[in-house]
Amino acid sequence: MIRPFSLSDLESLLQIENQSFPKSPYDWTTFLSLHTLYPETFLVYISPSTPPLEASSPVAAQDFVELRVDSMQRLLPRSEGRGLGAAERVHTDPEQRKKKISAYIVFSRDGHILSIAVHPHHRRRGVATKLLFRAMETSWPKKVWAEVRRSNQGAQAFYDTIGFKFRRTVRNYYGNEDALIMEWTPPDSPPPFLSKHESE
Ligand SMILES: CC(C)(COP(=O)(O)OP(=O)(O)OC[C@H]1O[C@@H](n2cnc3c(N)ncnc32)[C@H](O)[C@@H]1OP(=O)(O)O)[C@@H](O)C(=O)NCCC(=O)NCCS
Repeated sequence: MIRPFSLSDLESLLQIENQSFPKSPYDWTTFLSLHTLYPETFLVYISPSTPPLEASSPVAAQDFVELRVDSMQRLLPRSEGRGLGAAERVHTDPEQRKKKISAYIVFSRDGHILSIAVHPHHRRRGVATKLLFRAMETSWPKKVWAEVRRSNQGAQAFYDTIGFKFRRTVRNYYGNEDALIMEWTPPDSPPPFLSKHESE
């Protein structure tokens, strides 16, 4: 299932982030900003086989929680100690809320892939492709682009497969590493296989 990100996903999102981008993971404040900026196109993927959150998780344990994030990036009910200001009332379907996400994308309506990552256990099953096409559905931009670390051959192979082309290099974009700008001109309209059923 693909749905918009909710703060109740933050715990598993940060796990995916740290495993996918060990050199420069986004922290929770960045994700909260992205959530505010891109409410429709910050999407998460829940695999049918994804195990539920551990029973001890505050997200799994309560039907209705007002969440906050502490300085250790742990997600806590707001009632536990002083909040840091980042809080959100979360009230979703209990079964969905208990499920961990396995991937996410942050996409801008003009076609920029700000970030995309799939949990290592769920890669090479078409998850990133489905997330990208679903995010594109909101605006179907004429051009889609992403920055990729020069050393990130897996992501480059992923973009190659979709049809992205290398456009240019940005020197030291990641501090001590260059970024490759990869760009793709999608077909004029969503491909026929992109029925709602197929993209979930
Ligand atoms: C890049 C990433 C998002 C791809 O996610 P994914 O769900 O595995 O991608 P898909 O299954 O949709 O891949 C579609 C096709 O792309 C190609 N591809 C994807 N990952 C690949 C890899 N590591 N090596 C070679 N080809 C790859 C394959 O052709 C694949 O089809 P196939 O599995 O049938 O051969 C994932 O590897 C990831 O999270 N990496 C770490 C984070 C990252 O680098 N994000 C991108 C930052 S720019």
